[in-house]
Amino acid sequence: MSDIRHLIRTSDFSTQEIITLFHNALHYKQLLMSKTPTHQPLKHKNVITIFFENSTRTLSSFELAVKNLGGDILRLDVSRSSTSKGETISDTAANLNAMNPDAIIIRHRNAGAGYYLSAHVNCPIINGGDGAHSHPTQALLDLLTIIEHFGLEELQTLKNADTIAPFAPLDSIKGKKIAIVGDVVNSRVANSNIELLTRFGMEVILVAPPHFLPQTSLRTSDNLKAIAQEVDVIMSLRTQTERHDQVIYGSLKDYASRFCVTKEIVGNNPCIILHPGPVHRNIDIDDEVLKDSRSKVLEQVTNGVCVRMAALDFLIA
Ligand code: NCD
Repeated sequence: MSDIRHLIRTSDFSTQEIITLFHNALHYKQLLMSKTPTHQPLKHKNVITIFFENSTRTLSSFELAVKNLGGDILRLDVSRSSTSKGETISDTAANLNAMNPDAIIIRHRNAGAGYYLSAHVNCPIINGGDGAHSHPTQALLDLLTIIEHFGLEELQTLKNADTIAPFAPLDSIKGKKIAIVGDVVNSRVANSNIELLTRFGMEVILVAPPHFLPQTSLRTSDNLKAIAQEVDVIMSLRTQTERHDQVIYGSLKDYASRFCVTKEIVGNNPCIILHPGPVHRNIDIDDEVLKDSRSKVLEQVTNGVCVRMAALDFLIA
């Protein structure tokens, strides 16, 4: 039981493991792009998905990843599950565990839900997002998208390296600047990216109105226009209205007038623009920028499937 590995937060994977994971993800990407069938490392493996919060991308991405590797998916319909009849999550966990799954992928509104579950089961737990805490596969796919743009060749050179530096293993990524823009304090995506991207040597600048900023030692700003000129990556985030107890800003329109990533804000900066989705169009990023070749939003979705395939392969097979 102690050998079981989980993916609850990005720090569960060493830098060396992440580099190997990226090599595998890119291998899977090549196969998917050329429609070449992969070997089936998850054949006869059962993976349960249990999502207590809404999801389009993450759930379908995980399910596709399992299927691409030949595994079987059992999606628990939470609205009809016994937790909605008052069963505690540890009882739900015990029951799921009794079905002998090979992995459970969970999303929950409470921070720590995946970690809690991991103590009650005999299989890997993959966190598909817990409250405002962590969303490790999202951060991994974001970093892969950044590396594909700035450091793909260097990543390939590490393919057979015996040891990988635990901090800033890629010179082409080290020192690159990223602005994480938006509702940072409520964002698990921001949290996971801050750990992962700083580990890879990037400088993270948080750009938001004061009520969306966490307490942090990172550089912060409320001037997107100025910061947008000096960064290599802009990561826009959605305002997490479902996590706001009270309305803490005038209106989304006011917010957008200062924090929407527009053509004017980006100017001629040859940066790339990321967003985990769902995008609030013209509030987070405007229509024109979404169509711009610097926007890698759909590339992130493609990379999401490949990163999740590599993570499932690593944890289960
Ligand atoms: C994010 C999430 O759910 O944490 N989206 C995602 O997983 N693709 C971000 C969000 O909901 O804004």
